[in-house]
Amino acid sequence: MEYQLDKNQIPEHIAVIMDGNGRWAKAKGLPRSAGHAEGGTNLRRIAEVCSKLGVKYLTAYTFSTENWNRPIEEVDAIMKLVVERMDVDDLMRNNVRLRMIGDMERLPESVQQAFGKCMSATEHNEGGLTLVIAMSYSSRWELTRAMRRTAQLAAEGKLKPEDVNEDYINSQLETNFMPDPDLLIRTGGEQRISNYLLWQCAYSEFYFCDTYWPDFSSEDLYRAIAVYQQRQRRFGLTGEQVECKNE
Ligand code: IPE
Ligand code: IPE
Ligand code: MG
Repeated sequence: MEYQLDKNQIPEHIAVIMDGNGRWAKAKGLPRSAGHAEGGTNLRRIAEVCSKLGVKYLTAYTFSTENWNRPIEEVDAIMKLVVERMDVDDLMRNNVRLRMIGDMERLPESVQQAFGKCMSATEHNEGGLTLVIAMSYSSRWELTRAMRRTAQLAAEGKLKPEDVNEDYINSQLETNFMPDPDLLIRTGGEQRISNYLLWQCAYSEFYFCDTYWPDFSSEDLYRAIAVYQQRQRRFGLTGEQVECKNE
């Protein structure tokens, strides 16, 4: 089925919780790491579709702070995959800018180097997609760090209570270089946020689907965007007020 998308209403920022890699592998009798490998391949595919549609930011939840508590073999396999899949030439060919959000210092040296290389090589790519990899990321980690830094500045007399407003808080978050997500997609059947972009998703539209991430196709993405385009984003206003503004 073809979805008729309104080209003028493509979400500027899509965030994805790429869930279901493990169950995808299990259903096929494969090790969980095979699910992560296929999940990585699918991120590459979905990023390309987003880029063609004119999406400006795709923020992919790749590894959460809590995922550090998984068996060491699985953690190692994911880290190895990330290093293997980071491809400067591929990013350059597609005019993709790569960024990461999360606790970089906690990642193995090899992952840090791979990110460093891809981020500096692509930092001047403009006009295309910015692919943001959330690794060793969680909202509570991010907010805790921002608050600690803020307390430090206040203690040093460099920040007054009235300086702390929404703009200030945004500036202290990992995501300070991009707008809030318009659409948050979670695959894999769970309907929860799992510590992802809590502040930033205040007014995002949520879309949940049962499909495991490795099977989430371009058609599935079109469907998610089609559903998004049917929603009325009110930001606290009445429906009538929103209609008036759009006229
Ligand atoms: C998401 O897939 C990827 C990561 C969390 C790293 P899962 O590995 O959580 O897959 P399921 O939920 O166990 O199927
Ligand atoms: C969320 O998936 C994190 C990523 C997709 C990287 P999880 O599988 O870790 O989330 P929970 O534990 O089911 O909430
Ligand atoms: Mg999961």
